[in-house]
Amino acid sequence: MKRWIAVVAVLGLVAGCVGRVALYSPRLPPSEDHRAAVSNADCLECHDVTARANHATTDDCRNCHTICEGC
Ligand code: HEC
Ligand code: HEC
Repeated sequence: MKRWIAVVAVLGLVAGCVGRVALYSPRLPPSEDHRAAVSNADCLECHDVTARANHATTDDCRNCHTICEGC
């Protein structure tokens, strides 16, 4: 049953990573505010990320949260 072990290991890896994968991060609604916000300081004015365990204030927000143009 070696295959089982491999499957469980892969699932664990995936589950452990999705919380921080840029691909899965919520896109920014294309509001005026989000278009105007470029720096971390801008984002942090409205979004308190200290309450989010997997976010740090030094993260590059726009690196993961890109503006969604089509929605
Ligand atoms: C002037 C206030 C303001 C600024 C600055 C701002 N936001 Fe927002 N943001 C909001 C509001 C209000 C909402 C919720 C409204 C909505 O969903 O349209 C929101 C929603 C979001 C969401 C959630 C999208 C979702 O699908 O749930 C994310 C992620 C986000 N902002 C990230 C950011 C990042 C990253 C920045 C910096 C580039 C930023 N915001 C700058 C006010 C702001
Ligand atoms: C490494 C990628 C990454 C970076 C960098 C990042 N985020 Fe996120 N963010 C995510 C992911 C993935 C989620 C969704 C999972 C979660 O809620 O933790 C998220 C969720 C959020 C949400 C909640 C949206 C909702 O609908 O509840 C906000 C607000 C947010 N991020 C703001 C920010 C701000 C502000 C910064 C910069 C200080 C930032 N993020 C940096 C990946 C990232």
